[in-house]
Amino acid sequence: MTCVVFGVTGGIAAYKAVEVVRRLAERGLDVRVIMTEHATRLVGPDTFRAVSGNPVSVRLFDAPGPAMEHISLARAADLVVVAPATANILAKMAHGLADDLLSTTLLATRAPVLVAPAMNREMYRHPATQDNLRKLRERGVHVVGPESGALACGEEGEGRMAEPPAIVEAALHILGLRGDLSGHRVLVTAGGTREPLDPVRFIGNRSSGKMGHALAETARELGAEVVLVSGPTSLPAPPGVERVMVETAEEMRREVLSRFAGCSAVVMAAAVADFTPARKSEEKIKRGGREGLTVELVPTPDILGELCARRSPGQVLVGFAAETGDLLEKARKKLDDKGVDILVANDVSRPGFGFDSDLNQAVILFRDGREEELDVMPKRELALRIWKAVSGLLGSVGGQVPAQT
Ligand code: CTP
Repeated sequence: MTCVVFGVTGGIAAYKAVEVVRRLAERGLDVRVIMTEHATRLVGPDTFRAVSGNPVSVRLFDAPGPAMEHISLARAADLVVVAPATANILAKMAHGLADDLLSTTLLATRAPVLVAPAMNREMYRHPATQDNLRKLRERGVHVVGPESGALACGEEGEGRMAEPPAIVEAALHILGLRGDLSGHRVLVTAGGTREPLDPVRFIGNRSSGKMGHALAETARELGAEVVLVSGPTSLPAPPGVERVMVETAEEMRREVLSRFAGCSAVVMAAAVADFTPARKSEEKIKRGGREGLTVELVPTPDILGELCARRSPGQVLVGFAAETGDLLEKARKKLDDKGVDILVANDVSRPGFGFDSDLNQAVILFRDGREEELDVMPKRELALRIWKAVSGLLGSVGGQVPAQT
């Protein structure tokens, strides 16, 4: 099992390291966390123990038994990550100081090392820190970030730790773990569309965009080149993903179709409006004097239907079905009607999952009749399951996805 020794030092960004460790463990890596004493003031070792599934080491002389822990960890490591890496640990690394478990392990290891610096901008800019980073780079240490933005000290500037997906991607890259989607370009749609009634009002739906964003983020981590076409959302664009923002079903159709040709797979996670107002009023519709208001709606283009009709052999198409009641029956029918390779069906009438939640429960239905009923799980985990299903088809069907009828 590939072993990542993960050092956490005493920066405020230590809380973000929890997410990095969780994601590395989720990818099947054996993650061994070493915390500095200062780091334990910011996040409890138990949190890292829970997300890594391994004991957490803090002190040099704590380990039970005769083994020298810094040596055993240094030897076991296929990669050492330090995130956040404070100015202090960078200085110690640059000068070969070894006065705690993490710095001794770093001195004793021959594994590649990745650091994610995080500190106040003046500390980052200081010639001492810059010299240390230069020295470390020259020695082959990999550096991810820092980014510019709001810092924990209340200032703005360079010094913010890189976001967890960027650190995970850098780590996987160094380990040479090519993802299942490596070499593929995929397109994901997310969020709900908005169909305008007048300049201020629209018909929308409750989709948050979380499932589509989780799909885009995980596809990137699995090595794909990713385009995300998203309806309005407050979610940030996942790092490394090209995001195209749209409002209406028609705009989504245009952006998706124009990018479809070079894609190995398309996952339509967007809640596309099925109907749009027949006319958009150029002026704001006034209440004055009206007894009521009837809006005529006309169908929107069926984007997934068009993709199925236009697809080339080998392109894998995934649809979503949000249903209320008789989930499997409706999903099987939709899989056939739409002509997709995979349909992800979820029951949106169940409280607590689906719209705006971080959790989802779904059934993955394949065109060949296989059905995978999944437990309730975080949307990221569901996204990874969906990509596993997609990559299975990309691998086995190759250039022979049957033409749709
Ligand atoms: N979809 C699409 N274009 C539309 C509507 C939906 O591409 N105009 C896609 C969605 O992104 C989703 C799938 O089709 O992947 C199924 O959407 P859903 O609304 O559940 O299905 P509909 O075909 O609209 O059928 P229903 O009458 O059950 O709503």
